Amino acid sequence: MSASTLDAYLNSQSPDRAAVSETVRFLATAAMATRSLIAQSSASALGAAAGGRNADGDFQRHLDVSADEAFLAAARQAGVRYYCSEEIDSAVDLNGPQQLALAIDPLDGSSNIDTNVSIGTIFSILPARAGEPAESFLQPGRNQLAAGFFIYGPQLALALTFGAGTRIFVHSPRLGTFVEAVRPSIAEKTDEFAINASNYRHWDDAVRLYVDDCLKGSAGPREKDFNMRWIASMVADAYRILIRGGVFLYPGDSRRGYANGRLRLIYEANPIAMLIEQAGGAATDGISAILDLAPSSLHQRTPLVFGAAREVARIGRYHTEPSVIAERSPLFGNRGLFRA
Ligand code: AHG
Ligand code: MN
Ligand code: MN
Repeated sequence: MSASTLDAYLNSQSPDRAAVSETVRFLATAAMATRSLIAQSSASALGAAAGGRNADGDFQRHLDVSADEAFLAAARQAGVRYYCSEEIDSAVDLNGPQQLALAIDPLDGSSNIDTNVSIGTIFSILPARAGEPAESFLQPGRNQLAAGFFIYGPQLALALTFGAGTRIFVHSPRLGTFVEAVRPSIAEKTDEFAINASNYRHWDDAVRLYVDDCLKGSAGPREKDFNMRWIASMVADAYRILIRGGVFLYPGDSRRGYANGRLRLIYEANPIAMLIEQAGGAATDGISAILDLAPSSLHQRTPLVFGAAREVARIGRYHTEPSVIAERSPLFGNRGLFRA
């Protein structure tokens, strides 16, 4: 069977998903344009400060802003009703005829823009709801109609799910379109974890002990050696985990503003969680499934753990079974599981 193209896959969706498919088509066109912009511009120009800050207080880079403009235009062309972006404070009513709500991180991995490291665009498509524009985004990720991310790396690729498995399409410059490459299936076990270890002193006890145990390797309680990765572009870490397995953690920590970590629930954690679950993995906030969380604000953050299902479950037990911690680490014996 010849490899299927993105167009063929989108055409194969049920008629009631036609508007969702059409939206993905327009997003793919915007992604190709963004990829060209990245390839043709100087890294320093792309990474330069654009002068503003986003709702989360992050300094906006030129590429953050131009990517947001490209995907907002795509949303308008697709007839999407509502648009929620990391780069825009409130939800936008586009008055499109399709009852869809598009949540997007136009440029994920901004700190890597001027270092030629893979970056991407993450998107989530929800059914529009009546009421204020924001209402359509304050629904559990379980309601997503489709989710995906584009990664601008050595290859331009798209990880996509409509809720019937995850597929990866790679852009073929020769064909000028995306071609299906793989249907990822994440192994339940892993020996590779991804976390920003420079935050070690800020983590709670459960995360610190989990990582300690991994680092003790075959001499420790895990009885096997681990490898570590951290790219600081979640799309790149997620793509690796889809392809070869692993587990990713961005936990809450004691830094000011990081009680719920760094990643945003609606346009980062939810779409990644759907892709990972549909590929046989798991995604939690350390304890509860991401897709079951009920968002209360557009840019709210959540701790995020995703990847190999059994490893994600084990990390949950470090949080919920104090015996795992108290017995094994006298250091914590006389301290509450979490900082008072
Ligand atoms: P964004 O560029 O959209 O703000 O996202 C960056 C996120 C995510 O991609 C990555 O995993 C994480 O920030 C890296 O955070 P640190 O720089 O704190 O490691
Ligand atoms: Mn991001
Ligand atoms: Mn971003």
